Amino acid sequence: MAETRSFVFPTKKRSLTDDMDGDRHVASKKSTARYVDPEAALATSRHEFGEHGGVNMSIEASATFTVMEPETMRRMFAGELGPDRDFFIYSRHFNPTVLNLSRQMAALEGTEAAYCTASGMSAISSVLFQLCSGGGHVVASRTLYGGTHALLTHFLPRTCNITTTFVDIDNLAMVRDAIVQGKTTVLYFESVSNPTLAVANTPELCRVAHEKGVTVVVDNTFAPMVVSPARLGADVVVHSISKFISGGADIIAGAICGPSSLVNSMMNVHQGALMLLGPTMNAKVAFELSERIPHLGLRIKEHSRRALAFATRLKKMGLKVIYPGLEDHPHHALLKSIGNKEYGYGGLLCVDMETEEKANRFMNYLQNYAQFGFMAVSLGYYETLMSCSGSSTSSEMNAEEKELAGISPGLVRMSVGYIGTLEQKWSQMEKALNKMQDHGLLFNKT
Ligand SMILES: Cc1ncc(COP(=O)(O)O)c(C=O)c1O
Repeated sequence: MAETRSFVFPTKKRSLTDDMDGDRHVASKKSTARYVDPEAALATSRHEFGEHGGVNMSIEASATFTVMEPETMRRMFAGELGPDRDFFIYSRHFNPTVLNLSRQMAALEGTEAAYCTASGMSAISSVLFQLCSGGGHVVASRTLYGGTHALLTHFLPRTCNITTTFVDIDNLAMVRDAIVQGKTTVLYFESVSNPTLAVANTPELCRVAHEKGVTVVVDNTFAPMVVSPARLGADVVVHSISKFISGGADIIAGAICGPSSLVNSMMNVHQGALMLLGPTMNAKVAFELSERIPHLGLRIKEHSRRALAFATRLKKMGLKVIYPGLEDHPHHALLKSIGNKEYGYGGLLCVDMETEEKANRFMNYLQNYAQFGFMAVSLGYYETLMSCSGSSTSSEMNAEEKELAGISPGLVRMSVGYIGTLEQKWSQMEKALNKMQDHGLLFNKT
């Protein structure tokens, strides 16, 4: 089979490395760059109409696509005709409906291109496979989602001898020293970390990585709209769309946002991680999601408003609260300076109950006595979701790794929902806290 170049996003006929140079140039000028509101950027992305003039696009639910002339097939496989001219081959390759959602994702994150995948994990693993070769090396933050941590700690070393050095990304010298010239190809971190809500200094981390020719991949799952890592210099942004972007806790999906050359290389029939590993998004799922993106900004604003109100009140009561919107959070000033205006500090907060037992009692009262929210992993839902991270979504990490990442055994992570009124939900929270107090479990309540 001839090599398929993809024409979906106009490439500048440069290599990925060249694109990285281009991005770096942009990043180096970021201090003078004009502020781009992600919502404004989204509104400029192409609006696709339905086949019969519908205001919504039609769903292209076909696995395969027909051609009028046999010659066209050959030209598509030779890479002469592609999705940019409405030529499609097969939906494990580009699909028009998935492509439309991907254009929205690229606009949201301010990248040249994007493509959506079946899950956040498949977006992360595919991009790492694409950017690292066997025997390669990654430098990553110590504080990552448990699944990503396990991928880097166990799976990639076993399957491809790709190893990772975990670092404290607050310590730029440590990051720099961990990069092995000629071997490290990726610096990986989360814009706002799961579950500790540490905020990455993306501009500085990009500067350090780019000085050493390393590609920066940022997971922005916790902070869509709140932070735009690519606008701060990152090369690639990955998402678990299953969270805030979906908002319905009903879909598992992911995205890779980055240079056209990267997205196109990932679809290459000989070497592309998306084309060859096949974590394909279904067109019907893509349609569903693309209808939710236009109200993502509104939802994020309300998640953030509620999270800030609860965090402020809980802290005032004497609880140990972690929320980047609070002035005592170590990265408050940083997020204020690099975050997008008007989207607040994000919809997640943590309450450290110190022991797992107290954390479990607290969550139990919140759900079963006060009806405040649900004990469930995940985030970005309209209901509040809460979980004790150490024994759930970070349980892949051992005790030492959790300690290094700052995950206390009693850390309760809450994804603050927007259902009901704020005061109604707060009175439910108070009800649960009073119950805790009655049982002598609220160590710091004043
Ligand atoms: C920060 C982060 N990245 C990636 C993932 C994986 O996403 P998915 O569940 O969509 O595969 C998660 C899931 O919890 C996450 O929290």
